[in-house]
Amino acid sequence: MQNKDITSLKIGLLGGGQLGRMMIQSAINYTLDISVLDPDPNAPCAHLVENFTVGKLTDEEVVFNWGKNFDLVTIEIEHVSVAALKRLVNDGVRVFPQPEVIELIQNKRKQKTFYKANRIPTAEFVLTENAEDVRAHIDWLPAVNKLGEEGYDGRGVQMIRADKDVDKAFDKPGLLEKLVDFELELSVIVARNETGEKKCFPVVQLEFHPDHNLVEYLFAPAEISKAIEEKAYQLAEDVIEKLEMVGLLAVEMFLTKEGELLVNEVAPRTHNSGHHTIEANVTSQFEQHLRAILNLPLGSTDLKTPAAMVNLLGEDGHTGEAKYQGLEKCMAMTGVYVHLYGKKTTKPFRKMGHVTITEKDIELLKSKALKVKETLKVKA
Ligand SMILES: Nc1ncnc2c1ncn2[C@@H]1O[C@H](COP(=O)(O)OP(=O)(O)O)[C@@H](O)[C@H]1O
Ligand SMILES: [Mg+2]
Repeated sequence: MQNKDITSLKIGLLGGGQLGRMMIQSAINYTLDISVLDPDPNAPCAHLVENFTVGKLTDEEVVFNWGKNFDLVTIEIEHVSVAALKRLVNDGVRVFPQPEVIELIQNKRKQKTFYKANRIPTAEFVLTENAEDVRAHIDWLPAVNKLGEEGYDGRGVQMIRADKDVDKAFDKPGLLEKLVDFELELSVIVARNETGEKKCFPVVQLEFHPDHNLVEYLFAPAEISKAIEEKAYQLAEDVIEKLEMVGLLAVEMFLTKEGELLVNEVAPRTHNSGHHTIEANVTSQFEQHLRAILNLPLGSTDLKTPAAMVNLLGEDGHTGEAKYQGLEKCMAMTGVYVHLYGKKTTKPFRKMGHVTITEKDIELLKSKALKVKETLKVKA
């Protein structure tokens, strides 16, 4: 592929959500030919590309038959048929990130076992098969019970702080992890191309919704020491190297009160914690992903200006056709960039868009982020 004209490559993207939508925005600058597969005919990518196919991402035959048409297949979501991707690789289609990496990351049990086997620091855990198994580990509390598969946006995570919470344990294969009393939650997005070139984006600091385990705000750069920052980059590079992965990897970490970094989980794709890079960094995470999978030189990840990102979640109690309240007020603010994902219907806590705020003055940045959060609402 090294010498192939990138504009004539046929690229297939599995998933047509907001991550795909923003990837397409980047791909347009290079006239990359991207086709999309998604089960939802109204997905955020529908109508954006010439070839949008409606089909189930976890259906082996659907994914295989669709994927055969491309030189290169990539993902914007990891819940896809790995069996189909492996068959595509056998048939000469390039698939990045590699199917083996996607397979590992689809299952939190396998992911945690991989960290342990590869000496990647992570919270102590035991594998649990059912709720009874969780109950048998009552001496582990406070702990976090996680579903092995198909949890996302906090939906497969249950805090079990005290005996009384044990009834909330998942009755499915998962794991029980020691609750980390962390100082900060951080994320590093790292890219690696086939040549082996690696680049990290500056560390970001995540602030979660207290009840829904969902990112509410993010700040870049994170307010951490230079030493911790360096350690975070080394850790992210170590993980992508040990996975031998090509593409973009988001590494979510906990910074403990003792100054230790633990890997929480990783995602082998563009990530919510990198949305601000569109406006705040020299190269966006979406462009970097494309550069990595096409084995092109990776772009500079330098932060041009401090930034905050606010997720625009569907308002609680509102289900139906989405209406955006306070949009004009936000647009009147300097350095405020609104991204709406084009989802017709809103549901409580559904990710409907995000807003990036760029501002040199950190205090002003934080107050603008709060203002955006209070002003912009998605209601039905
Ligand atoms: N061991 C832990 N200790 C403390 N908090 C945790 C732990 N594991 C997860 N959390 C909290 O729950 C959030 C969601 O968990 P995570 O494993 O990242 O699941 P998801 O796949 O839903 O993102 C984390 O971002 C963190 O805030
Ligand atoms: Mg997470």
